[in-house]
Order: sequence, then structure tokens, then C-alpha cells
Amino acid sequence: MFGGISFARRKEVLALSLRLQLIMLTTLVLLVSLLLGGLLTYGYARGKVRAEMHAAMAVGQRMASSAIADAGLTPDPDKELRQLVADFDGDRHLRVLWLDGAGQTVISSKLAPPPKSVPNWLYRLLAGGPDVIDLRMPPPLQGKGIIKLATDPHNEIGEVWGDVRLILAILGIFCALAISLTFIAIGYAFRPLQRLSTAFTRVGAGDYSQHVTENGPLELSRLCRGFNRMLDRLSAMEARNLKLQEQLAAVQDEERADLARDLHDEVGPFLFAVGVDATMIKRFAENGTRAEIMARSDAIREATEHMQKHIRAMLGRLRAGVLLDVGLNQAIENLVLFWRARRPELTFDTRLPKEAIHHPIDEVIYRTIQESLSNAVRHGRPHWVEIRVEHDVDFVRVTVQDDGAGFEPSRQKTGYGLAGMEERINALGGKVAIRSREKGGVIVSAQLPQKAAPEDAEPEILSPALAS
Ligand SMILES: Nc1ncnc2c1ncn2[C@@H]1O[C@H](COP(=O)(O)OP(=O)(O)OP(=O)(O)O)[C@@H](O)[C@H]1O
Ligand SMILES: [Mg+2]
Repeated sequence: MFGGISFARRKEVLALSLRLQLIMLTTLVLLVSLLLGGLLTYGYARGKVRAEMHAAMAVGQRMASSAIADAGLTPDPDKELRQLVADFDGDRHLRVLWLDGAGQTVISSKLAPPPKSVPNWLYRLLAGGPDVIDLRMPPPLQGKGIIKLATDPHNEIGEVWGDVRLILAILGIFCALAISLTFIAIGYAFRPLQRLSTAFTRVGAGDYSQHVTENGPLELSRLCRGFNRMLDRLSAMEARNLKLQEQLAAVQDEERADLARDLHDEVGPFLFAVGVDATMIKRFAENGTRAEIMARSDAIREATEHMQKHIRAMLGRLRAGVLLDVGLNQAIENLVLFWRARRPELTFDTRLPKEAIHHPIDEVIYRTIQESLSNAVRHGRPHWVEIRVEHDVDFVRVTVQDDGAGFEPSRQKTGYGLAGMEERINALGGKVAIRSREKGGVIVSAQLPQKAAPEDAEPEILSPALAS
């Protein structure tokens, strides 16, 4: 039946809308009420028909008995008996018959015609068995047969049927009105839900731009307000992510340009020098002195050491998993080396722990120091920078302070470096404070819980190839 439709779509097809479910529930309640009302009405109508028939029979019996007794005293009893039957013509509930000695009808009264044609099912439901009474003739009228009284509920049931039809019509109009009004009212009340549902579909597709109107019932308008706040936060986060990505790309470009410059300035000339020295050694080997050869050989070694140092520093910046290879302390040293090469006038005061610090705390510490150093050099132009990493059983503490210009109150906070730093630290359950120093400059102090490190984490091993 559902051919190629997916399971989720199939469930959606089978699921009824909340509006339809409520309407069905209302209809069900009305139908049950109608059924109960119908049963009560039936009991009442049946009782009424019975009572009316008994009353009609009692009155008719009294009248007929007295008329028969009187007829026995008159000279023309046949006329009196015919009159007795004729007196019941047009009665609504009782028929009177005069039957002769052979049981043949001599004359019978005519019932008043029922006001409405009564359906058979209703007649069967309400009529019950007929009440019949035979009245015997007194001794002077022996041989004249009998007078028979029989109730006929058609008229009464016709009356009830008229009432029932009126009630049914009123109830039908009431139910139709109740269901239509409920349908409209629910539709109106659920309009915010429909708007929310459409808005959620848009959010699912990544569109956070359209707020929903905050009206409707109290609970739904609260829901809409919450949804709008969520949209604001999502779009702010998206904008922030975009900015971070742009910054990341810019930082990567800057880093690549730096590396190219380093390769060109620090490695290129030394490679050339090594080539020159190697040629010189060959020449001195043919007609030079031993001391000249030794001097060139020392120059090659020095150039190689210089290049090794710079290539190691570049590797440290290039590799994302820098800490995994060289360890936290060496990575921080590399950072210091990086900035020392660019700001030779800057004094670095570094104190690092001897013990290894576990992952991922080490990476967060590295990124904190990296951003703090970069901020100090870029914004503060300090003469001195102090880096401290200390730890005890419970916490690792990191402090980076400088004696630069400090925060400029006029400058609005535009960057994402400090925010990113705080996020990294908070993610490990730590906290960070960034404030101006009394003596000028800025101090960044972070504290990270040791339990952020996995129990069985191995300390990072220093790569022998890169550790000097
Ligand atoms: N050591 C510091 N000395 C002086 N001002 C600082 C220092 N550290 C941060 N600031 C100020 O705080 C602002 C926010 O720093 P943050 O690192 O968040 O952004 P940024 O460095 O401007 O940009 P980026 O997103 O590239 O890091 C800086 O723009 C700067 O004005
Ligand atoms: Mg910054």
C-alpha cells in the first residue's frame, strides 16, 4: 500500500493531526452522550406509552361496563350497544368491538388516525403486547355476544415519534454546531503551532532568519518566545563560527607566509653556504692547509646546526600534534623561540614543570600560552613576558603576564582569541581570568582540574629525533 514510501514518511501519513484527533475525541464524546440520552429517552417513552394505554383501558372499561348495564334495561338494547361502540369512534388509544355469539364483528369503533406514520422499528420497540379485555353481557342481553376493548398505541407512539424527531433535529444541529465551532476554535488556537512547525522545518534546513509571531494561547506564545530566543542564539553562534573560520583561514595564511619567509631567510642562505663550503673543502684538499679545511668543516657543522634548529621550530608549528611529539615544555620553548626571533628586544621569563602534563590538558595549556603570547606581542608591545606553568595533585595553573600597554579601554573587544581560550578551558571544567596588571600590562591566569586528564593517560614522550 505504501510502496516506496520511507518508514518515517509512512508514520507521518498514518499519524493524525492533533486537530483531527481532538475533533474525533469531541465527536466520540457527543456520540456517547447521544447514545446514553437515547437509552434514557427510550425508557421514558416506553413507560409513558404503557401508562397511557393502561389509563385509556381503565377509563374505557368503566364507560363500557356502565353502558352495557344500561343497555340491558332499555327496550332496544341493540341500538344502545351500537351507540356504545359509536361513542368510542375517534378515540386515540382504545378500540371497541361488538362481537356476536359466533365471534363475528357486528360493529367496531374507528381509531383517530395517528398524527405521523410511525416507523415499524419504533413501534416494535415501544408498543409491547396489546391490552385486550372482553366484557360479558348481563343476563338480559345473553346471546348478544361480547364487547371487546383493545388498546392501540399507534397514536401515542406517533406523538412520541414527533417529539423524538424534534429532539433529534435539535441535537443534530447542536452537534454539528459544536463540532464546527470546536474545529474552528482548535484551528485558531493551533495556528502558532503550525507556524512553529514550519519554522522548525526552516531551522532544520539551516535558516535562522525568520522569527515567529508571539501570540495565541499563553503556553504557545511562551513556546514561540523561547523559539525566537533559540533562533537568536543559533544565528549568533553561526555568525561567530563563520568569523572563527575566517580567522582560522587568515591565521593559516599568515602562518604559511611566515614559514615561507623562514625557509627563505633561515634555511636558503645556509644551504648555499654549505654548498660553497663543500666546494672550498675540495679545493683546500688539493692545495690548501689542514686548518683551512677544518675551518670550512666547522662552518658546515654550524650552518647545519642552525638549519636544524629552525627546521625543528618550523616543524613544531606545522604539525597539529606538536605536543604528541615534542612534549609540552618543548612546544612552549618553540613558541618562545618563534617570538624571540621576531622580537629580539623582548625578555622571556619561563618556568615550566619537570613532570609531564596529561592530554588533553597539555594542549589547552599550549593554546592558552600561544594566544596570550601572541596578544601580548601584537597588542601590548611589552619588554618582558613571564610564562608560568605549575601544578599540584588537583590543579594545573598557567599564568602569562606582560608589562605592555595593557587593555585600551577605548578599544572594543572585537577578536575571538580570548573567547576561544575561555571556551577551551571551560570545556575541561577549568576557569580563566584576564585582567590588567597594577604595574601595567595584562595577566592571564588559568586553572584546570587535573581530573580532566584520563586516568590511564600516558605522559607524552619526547621524540628523541627532535628533542635536543
Ligand atoms: N596582552 C594584551 N595587551 C594588550 N591588550 C590586549 C592583550 N590581550 C588582549 N588584549 C586586548 O583584548 C582584545 C581581545 O583579544 P582577543 O585575543 O580576543 O582578540 P584579538 O587578539 O584582537 O583578535 P584574535 O581573534 O586574532 O585573537 C584585543 O583586541 C586587545 O585589545
Ligand atoms: Mg588574540
